[in-house]
This record gives sequence, structure tokens and C-alpha cells, in this order.
Amino acid sequence: MAGIDYVEQIPNNVNLHENRRLLRALEDWQPKFLEWWKDMGPHGYQAKEVYLRTAISVDAQGWAKFGYVRMPEYRWGIFLAEPEAGRQINFGDHQGSPAWQEVPGEYRGVLRRLIVTQGDTEPASVEQQRHLGRTCPSLYDLRNLFQVNVEEGRHLWAMVYILDAHFGRDGREESEALLQRRSGDADKPRILGAFNEKTPDWLSFFLFCYFTDRDGKYQLASLAESGFDPLSRTCRFMLTEEAHHMFVGETGMGRIVQRTCELMREHKTDDVRKFGGLDLATIQRYINFHCSVSLDLFGSEISTNAANFYTMGLKGRFEETKKRDDHRLKDATYSVAELNGDRITTREEAALLSLNERLRDDYVADCNRGLARWNQIIKSHGIDVELTLPHRGFHRAIGAFAEVKVSPDGRVVSEAEWDAKHHQWLPTEDDKAYVASLMQPVTEPGKFANWIAPPARGINGQPVDFEYVRLG
Ligand SMILES: [Fe+2]
Ligand SMILES: [Fe+2]
Repeated sequence: MAGIDYVEQIPNNVNLHENRRLLRALEDWQPKFLEWWKDMGPHGYQAKEVYLRTAISVDAQGWAKFGYVRMPEYRWGIFLAEPEAGRQINFGDHQGSPAWQEVPGEYRGVLRRLIVTQGDTEPASVEQQRHLGRTCPSLYDLRNLFQVNVEEGRHLWAMVYILDAHFGRDGREESEALLQRRSGDADKPRILGAFNEKTPDWLSFFLFCYFTDRDGKYQLASLAESGFDPLSRTCRFMLTEEAHHMFVGETGMGRIVQRTCELMREHKTDDVRKFGGLDLATIQRYINFHCSVSLDLFGSEISTNAANFYTMGLKGRFEETKKRDDHRLKDATYSVAELNGDRITTREEAALLSLNERLRDDYVADCNRGLARWNQIIKSHGIDVELTLPHRGFHRAIGAFAEVKVSPDGRVVSEAEWDAKHHQWLPTEDDKAYVASLMQPVTEPGKFANWIAPPARGINGQPVDFEYVRLG
């Protein structure tokens, strides 16, 4: 079961050949996906051979193989984590019942919406990143970009499989629509705000992987707890791939910080722009931006939708089964940040209504861990600066803080103060122009752009100067 059937046109471990109707639906969708990939996938590299990882099994040991692939020939497929015998619904009103193998009729619409919203982010990020190839800081980074892109493509397959297998005609219509929306398009945008932002440069890309893919991790982890078993199994395997995306973000930023510190020490100045580096103040403004738009993805602090998803058994908490409580939360409370006049305070709210905020808290704690590692790099250079996450109220478009202006250190500020200071807090036009000016491609194996340090090691045991993408 764990082995993946690669003889089929659509690689899978779900015995697709036994379900002719589903197989036909997916075979019908496959050329449309490829058309989308060619139109909206990585620009300019479709014919190049890239050293990519492809899933070959869902076993924890040795689940992937590496080799040169042209991206349109990547074996996107359908891989679900192994079923757990006797799995039950672990939370909400149906706690203790056997996990659903079919969509519960009364929750059909809600569940479809959850899956479509997750599914929509996958192609969106590929679209956002499609022009980054031509400004890559190295072949190593170029390969990592493409690895992330093909895996987001596979995550789209994962969601389309669930839609086609379990939602009939509606599911097939949603699968089509997933290929028709476009990131940033005025008429048919992607569903969520952060997925309509531009990713114009590699600093933005690494921060997108760090902050926005990490939102994905938390959403997938909550859906992996779902009482709808096929969704749970799909998300569990997606999380295996997702870990690499956050690795790309965290190590990419770590290498930028490393290089910045080297330049600061060498030239005894904070202003490393003169020497072609990214100064820490600019990095901080970019962190503020990407963190804040990603915080919005968790939704409103108080949400009856979130409560319903939980009570219905469709979407759990992060690490639901490791938590020691009743997993129903009818009487529990949770502390939520709120706006209190011009102050930010916390209050106890019904735990069920606060599930978005709770997931956001788990996420923020996780974000802080990588940040601490970047700060360790700064400290190891004897530099007395710390990068920080902005306050959760900063630059928010959704939830309790959407109506006010909050500084990165968490003060509610007047419009006048915001107008006077926001250029210190968010990337300015000047920052964007400077970052853009650094984006000159470096494509000689083993060479790196001046603004980023080489990685500690290569991919899959290969040397750093390996030819990760064959451009010849
Ligand atoms: Fe993904
Ligand atoms: Fe991802």
C-alpha cells in the first residue's frame, strides 16, 4: 500500500484504477493542470533539467527519490498517508465515533469550502513566484524554488483528488475553478489576501516560505486532525513535503542575515547597502510585512465558523490529540487579545470561539523559534541588534485590529503618527527599489550573490557547487 503506482498515468497510492469514474475525472483534469503549469508555473525554465525530489512512498523512511527532471514531466500524483486502523473522530460533537470515510451529508458544503480554501493557496503561491527564476542568487536556490513550486502543484493535486473523489459534480467544478483564479487578478483573484500579494524578489520569497508557508503548516496540521479521514490522510502527507518549504525560508533568511553580519563586521558599519548587502533595518521591515499579512490568514480572533468546524469534527486544533482536555471545549475559555479604547488588553473568551486565535498563538510561538536562530547568528558576530516579530495588531486587515493603527511594538497610534512613521515599519518604495537592484542572477555552480551566504551543505548529500539546474 505504501508503494506508489508509477505505471499509471497519474501516480497514486489510492488504487485509482479501481474507480473508473474518478480516474476519468482526474485524467480529464490532468491536461488542464499541465496547461495551467505551462502558463503560470516557473517562467523560462520549463525545458531545463532540475535536480528534484519526487515522492515514491509514504513511508517515513526513504519516501522520496532525487534526480533530474524537466518540470512539466514531474510525476505529480495522489499520495495519502497510511490509514490508521480504527481511527476515530477525536474532538467535537462526534468525538468517539469512527472517522468518516465518506463526506457526512450535513457538512458537505462547509467541508467543501474548507478544502477549496486550502486548495486555492497551492497554485496561488506558484503564480506568485513564477518570475523569481531569472533573478536567482544561485543554482542551489533556483532548485529549491522549483522544488517548492512542484510540491505546491502536488498539493493542488491532493486537494483536487479529495474534491473529485468525494464531492461529485460540485467537486469537479471546484477543481476547474482552482485552475481559473489567478493570484492578484482584479476579476478572479485567489481567495485569501496574502496569496494575492506579489513575491517580486528573493527576500520576499524566503519570508513568504518562512511566514506564509508556515500558516499552511498550521492549517494543514489542523485539517490533519479532521474526522473526515481522507482529508486527514492527505494533509498528513502534505505536511511531510511542507517541512522543506519552511526549511527553505528559515535557512534562506539565516544565510542573508549571516552575509549581512559579515559585511557589517568587515566594513564596520550598519549601512551595508554601500557594499551590496541587505541592512538589518530593511530585513526587519520586510519581516513586519510578511508576518502581518500571514497573521491575517488565521482569520478573526472570535469566529463562529471556527467554532462550527471544530464542533462538527472537521478541523481540529494544532496537535489536537496531544492535548489533555475534553476535546469538546463547551465550557473552556481562552485568553484573546482585544482592543480596549486605545489600549490592547486580553480577555477570557469562550474557547470554541477563540480557535483561530489559539492557532495563531501556536503559529507565533513557532515563528519565534526561527527568529531566535537568526538572532543567534547576529549575536555570534558580536552585533547588538535583535530582529523581532511585529505585534499581532500591527498592519492587520482582518480581525479586532483591522480598524486601528498599531505600531510594531504594540501601541495603538494615531493616523498622524502612523503617517509619520510607517516608512520605518514597512518596506518603502526605496527599499523595494534597492532590493530589486540586488536581484541579479548568479547561475555558475557554487557561486552565490553577494547579499546571501552559501548554505552549510547541499541537497541530498550533494556538494554545494553541484549543478542543481542544468541551464545549458
Ligand atoms: Fe502547499
Ligand atoms: Fe508550501
